[in-house]
Amino acid sequence: MSEKQVFKPNKEFAKNALIKNMCEYQDLQDWATEDYEGFWGSYGKEKLDWMEPFTKVMDDSNFPFVNWFEGGKLNVSSQCIDRHLDTKKNKAAIIFEGDRGDKQIVTYLELYYNVNKFANLLKNKFDVKKGDRVIIYMPMIPEAAYAMLACARLGAIHSVIFGGFSAEAIKDRVKDADAKIIITADGAFRKDKPYMLKPVVDKALEGATPVKKVLVVQRNFEDVEWVAGRDYSYNELIDLESSHCDPEPMDSEDPLFLLYTSGSTGKPKGVQHNSAGYILWAQMTMEWVFDVKENDTYWCTADVGWITGHTYIVYGPLAMGATTVMFEGVPTYPDAGRPWKMVEEYRINQFYTAPTAIRVLHKMGEDEPGKYDLSSLKVLGTVGEPIDPPAWKWYYEAVGNNNCAIVDTYWQTETGGHVISPLPGATPIKPGCATFPLPGIMAEILDDEGNKAPVGEKGLMCITRPWPAMIRGVWGDKERFIKAYFGDVKKDGKPVYFTGDGAVYDDDGYITITGRTDDVINVSGHRMGTAEVEAAIKKHDNVAEVAVVGKPHPLKGEGIFAYILLKEDDGVADELEEMKAINAIIKIEIGNIALCDDMVFVPGLPKTRSGKIMRRILRSIAKGEEITQDISTLEDPGVVDTINKMVNS
Ligand code: PRX
Repeated sequence: MSEKQVFKPNKEFAKNALIKNMCEYQDLQDWATEDYEGFWGSYGKEKLDWMEPFTKVMDDSNFPFVNWFEGGKLNVSSQCIDRHLDTKKNKAAIIFEGDRGDKQIVTYLELYYNVNKFANLLKNKFDVKKGDRVIIYMPMIPEAAYAMLACARLGAIHSVIFGGFSAEAIKDRVKDADAKIIITADGAFRKDKPYMLKPVVDKALEGATPVKKVLVVQRNFEDVEWVAGRDYSYNELIDLESSHCDPEPMDSEDPLFLLYTSGSTGKPKGVQHNSAGYILWAQMTMEWVFDVKENDTYWCTADVGWITGHTYIVYGPLAMGATTVMFEGVPTYPDAGRPWKMVEEYRINQFYTAPTAIRVLHKMGEDEPGKYDLSSLKVLGTVGEPIDPPAWKWYYEAVGNNNCAIVDTYWQTETGGHVISPLPGATPIKPGCATFPLPGIMAEILDDEGNKAPVGEKGLMCITRPWPAMIRGVWGDKERFIKAYFGDVKKDGKPVYFTGDGAVYDDDGYITITGRTDDVINVSGHRMGTAEVEAAIKKHDNVAEVAVVGKPHPLKGEGIFAYILLKEDDGVADELEEMKAINAIIKIEIGNIALCDDMVFVPGLPKTRSGKIMRRILRSIAKGEEITQDISTLEDPGVVDTINKMVNS
């Protein structure tokens, strides 16, 4: 398979697809270019059910603070549930499969009852109101979705924290969001064994905290500590609540959720998404990119703790009235055939996962897909990191039987939904390539001067006009919002949104994402700030200085490589023990997802005379590349050679 090979959409599929060919795609993109507000206003009216109609499509007079659908009122939980009740009340909204194979089908009517009861519980027992922040720290069980939708129903702002984050990470987020309640579970099951979440929450709440209440869903029924007056059992309380709760009428720009993500400083930022624009784009991209039909069953393997879980497990599928699968377990347990067994069993039509998962499933179960009937599959999706040719090929051939479109969806926590992606019935696909901006998204690769990057030359992936699902702010930090996203690139003298990614056009105008240009690394499709990991490592008593970089990793995409200067090197009898101690601190400060794959204790770090660490050199050394940078201006050029020998010989 050469990079140049093009895979045309399946003709039969294209006939019934929502966007059937590139002419239709181009028509939509032309419409948006010529009449931006007309385009979005029309979709805003058609796709959403308004309690009060909007009066202005977009106001960007205070850019980068932009308002969409001004004057409109709606409720996101009603968009996802209530409006489907007339036509789909007995349709499966959520199909849940537990780690141990336990199954649950939740219809739209049941979802309505469960979410309404949940909202009433939050409102009546815990006084959760519009604008309150609610932390959700949950396993992949339907109650996680109910919790999100219950917050949306009340107008409370949820902030879901991925279950792999540590107590310290929760503490930071709770404090930043000033949250009054945490919804969690005792734990869940992984590889047929219980694992625990509630003890992590208990630890996070030690000392001063704004959190006054903890609501615990009992999932694995293991014993947990119980703080009287603070902790409450969901299972005991939920059925005492009525199954009707009026949805709060929300302004289009009222916040829906915060989701903390890594940036180039040590502190994760609370990315804020608001109501109308977000839910509109979640629904539209679901429809366009996955082309889900009324009887289809769609499965996204992400975790609700990440943006993919928000937009493409919960909000997007439910807003369009689709059936979404939630899976608690691990894709390789009990063997690497588990996802394919589930595809066969539930007749999954669209399957969406990360390249890391594809690489692991390929490595651990190359022949597993062949053992199952995967003929229901129509669209395969990838997200989170570039997909390499061997993984793409296996996905296309072994899983998709050379018959499915692979949609390589490029987007970010900040974009709310897909921004660059193939359309399965229209776009001729080139492996490893996110292809073209979706209609309505003015994405362009620019050079440093803000001109369109020439073909073949790496530039900066930008979005030059505000779009409905774009990040509305960094919680509590306007300056950081402006500086992080709108400070670097200008087009025609005006700041534009810069994604932080590099990208390149090919001769046909296809966009390939080349990876981050900042100090963010992408571990198994999860974003990790090097500064965050460095801050954790510095908490070790014997660490004087540290620099963290990404290093290509065969399964994870990128692994974490730390160069550490110890205060007392001689005192370290056993380097391995010291490494273990440092990783133990990372586990406490951030969680297992940030553990270092490589650590090297160095005698010094390559720094400029002004003291800036030259991470580019360290990246090259980690990759085993030749050092081509000029090192003569460094404070101590000799250290480069020393480190290089330590790492690469
Ligand atoms: O570097 C890009 C990479 O993931 C980053 C966004 O990470 P996060 O906000 O955690 O969201 C992940 C899920 C949307 C981007 O800045 N990325 C995402 N999708 C792709 C990608 N890199 C290459 N190809 C993709 N399809």
